[in-house]
Amino acid sequence: MIWAHIRLHVGYIRRKMKMDSLLAVDNLKKYFETSYGVVKAVDDISFDIKSGETFGLVGESGSGKSTTGYLIVGIYKPTSGRILYKGQDISIPARKRPKHLKKEIQIVFQDPKSSLNPKQTVKDIVELPLKVHEKSLSKADREARVKELLEAVGLPPEDFMYRFPRELGGGENQLVAIARALASNPSLIVLDEPTSALDVSIQAKIINALIDLQRKYNLSYLFITHDLSLERNVADRIAIMYLGKIYEVAPTDKFFINPLHPYTKMLLSSIPVLTDEEEKLKPKEIKSVGEIPSPVNPPSGCRFRTRCPFATEKCAKVEPSFVEMEPNHFVACNLYE
Ligand SMILES: Nc1ncnc2c1ncn2[C@@H]1O[C@H](COP(=O)(O)OP(=O)(O)O)[C@@H](O)[C@H]1O
Ligand SMILES: [Mg+2]
Repeated sequence: MIWAHIRLHVGYIRRKMKMDSLLAVDNLKKYFETSYGVVKAVDDISFDIKSGETFGLVGESGSGKSTTGYLIVGIYKPTSGRILYKGQDISIPARKRPKHLKKEIQIVFQDPKSSLNPKQTVKDIVELPLKVHEKSLSKADREARVKELLEAVGLPPEDFMYRFPRELGGGENQLVAIARALASNPSLIVLDEPTSALDVSIQAKIINALIDLQRKYNLSYLFITHDLSLERNVADRIAIMYLGKIYEVAPTDKFFINPLHPYTKMLLSSIPVLTDEEEKLKPKEIKSVGEIPSPVNPPSGCRFRTRCPFATEKCAKVEPSFVEMEPNHFVACNLYE
C-alpha cells in the first residue's frame, strides 16, 4: 500500500517536473560547413530547463557550449532537432520568432567590452530593448525603468546613467549587460561564461548579483562555464559536454559526491579545493591528459575514449546511451551499461 503510494507520488513528481520545464532541447544539432570540413559543434543533445532553475553547462573550450547557447537565443538556426519554449517550437532564428517570444530569452556574453556599444551611454544601452519590446512606454516611463534596472543590478543610476562603457570597470560593464538583458522582462537568460573575462575579485560580486536577481524576478538561467567549481555555487543541475555531446547530467551535489563519467572525474580532479574533506572527495584516478580531438573528425563510439584511461575496444564501436544511475542522475558511458 505504502509502496504503491510512493510510486504514485514519484510518478506525480516526474510528471510535474516535465510539466514545469520552461525550455526543452530535443536532439539538437548544429553543424558548420567550413573550408576544412564539417564542424559538428553540437551533435544531438537533449536536456530541459525548469522554471526558476539554474542549469549549468560545463566543458572545456570547443565543446559546443556557446553554440548551444546561441541556438537557444536564436543567433543560429539548428541543423536539426528542436527547441521548445513552454511547449512551443522556437527552432528558428530570433529574427523570425514571434515578438512576444523573442523577449523571453536573453543572453549575457563573456566579454562586456565587445558586447556593449562604446559610443552609447549606459542609459542608451539599457533603454534600447525597452524601445524595441515595450513600445507603449513613454519617454519618462522608459527613463524610470532604466533607473529601476540599474538599481536592481547594484549600479546607482545617478552615478552610472550618463557614463560610457570605457569609463567603467569590467564588472560594472557586465552589470550593465545584465541590466540590458533584464530590460525586456525575460524568463530565461543564457549566461555564457559571464565571469570568465573578469578579475577574480569581481567574479563573486557578479555571481551574487545574478543569484539575487534570479530570486527577485523568478529567472531561469543556462549558466555556461568551463569551470565546474563555479557551478557548485550557482547551478541546480549540471550537464557535462564534450565535443558536441552531453555525457552526464545530474543535480549539482551529485557531481561532487558521486561523479560517474571519467570525463567529469577528470574535470573535478583539476579544480582547486578549500578543505581536506573536499580533497578526499576529489577523484584521484584521472588526471587531465591528451588533446581534445577535432570536432571535424570526432572519435568513433564514445568521443572521450581517446583521453579515457578506462576505454576498451567496445568504446570505439559503441556510442554510449544515457542510463539513469540514481534518480535524475544520468550518464552516457560504456562502463555503466
Ligand atoms: N561560426 C562557426 N563556424 C565554424 N566553426 C565554429 C563556429 N562557431 C563555433 N565553431 C566551432 O565549433 C566548436 C564549438 O565551439 P563553441 O560552441 O564556441 O565551444 P565552447 O563555447 O564550448 O568553447 C569549436 O570547434 C569551434 O571552433
Ligand atoms: Mg564558448
